[in-house]
Amino acid sequence: MGKADVHARLSYALAWIRGRTDTPPRAGIVLGSGLGGFAALLGDPVIIPYGEIPEFPVARVPGHAGRLVLGELQGASGPITVAALQGRVHGYEGWSAQEVAFGARVLCSLGARLLIVTNAAGGVNPDLGPGDLVRIEDHLNLSGQNPLAGANDDRLGTRFPDMTHAYHPELGARLEATAARLGIPLKRGVYACVSGPSYETPAEIRMLRTLGADLVGMSTVPEVIAARHMGVPVVGVSLVTNRAAGLAAAPLSHKEVAAVAAREGERLSTLLAAFLAEAPLA
Ligand code: HPA
Repeated sequence: MGKADVHARLSYALAWIRGRTDTPPRAGIVLGSGLGGFAALLGDPVIIPYGEIPEFPVARVPGHAGRLVLGELQGASGPITVAALQGRVHGYEGWSAQEVAFGARVLCSLGARLLIVTNAAGGVNPDLGPGDLVRIEDHLNLSGQNPLAGANDDRLGTRFPDMTHAYHPELGARLEATAARLGIPLKRGVYACVSGPSYETPAEIRMLRTLGADLVGMSTVPEVIAARHMGVPVVGVSLVTNRAAGLAAAPLSHKEVAAVAAREGERLSTLLAAFLAEAPLA
C-alpha cells in the first residue's frame, strides 16, 4: 500500500486536475503502445504530463513518461469531452497492479461513463495476424496480480465485484456496428494478460490457446478490474502486432511490435472516435 489510501490519493489527483479543467469527461480511454495518435483527434486539448499530477505513477523510461489529454470530440448530439491516457505503466516495470490501475481510476473518478481500453497484443489464435483489430470480449487474468488485493475501500466499490460482463456486451455490439458501417474489419477474442516482460515460449502459447485465449499481452486487465470495481462499463480493443511465439518463423521483437502498432493504429483511432461520437453517454 502507498503512503495514503487509494481514495485519498485519487482525491489529490482529482482536485489538481480539476484546477486545470473543470469539464468532466464523458468517456475515458487508455491508449496502448503506438496508439497514442488518438489524442490528436481531441479538439481544444488540455495536456497534462503525468509527472505534474499528484500521486500519479510515472514510467521511469525517458520519453515514455506519458500524459493525460482532455479534449473534445464532435458527438451526434453536441461535443463530448474525452479524457485519454497516453502511455501507461506496466507491472513488469515493478509497479503493483494497484498502481497500474491508478490512471484508469482517475478517469473513472473524473466522471467517465465508459472506459475504453486499448493495447498491442500478440495473436494466439492462428486466425489472427499483424494489423488485425480485435474487440476484447473477455479476459484471462494470468498475471498473478489483482489491483483489488489488500483492504477494500467500500467508497470505490464492493469487495467481490462481478466479472461476468467485464466487457460491456451492448457497447461491444455497438462498436461492432460502427466498425461495420465504416468498413473496418473487427474480430472478437479473449485476451490473456501475462506478467512479462519476456515474451512467451511456444509451449506457453500452446497452453494459452488450450485455455481459450485468442490474444496475449502484458497490460489492460488491471485497469478493467479497477473500472468494473467502480461500476464503469468497459470496451476493449486489441491491435494485433504479431503472431505469438511459435506461430511465426521470426523471433519476437519489441521494435517490430511498436512499428506495427504505429503503422496500423490510425484505423483504431478512427473507429474509436466514430464509436464515441455515437455512444450513449448522457
Ligand atoms: N506477447 C505478449 N505481449 C505482447 C505481444 C506478445 O506476443 N505482442 C504485443 N504485446
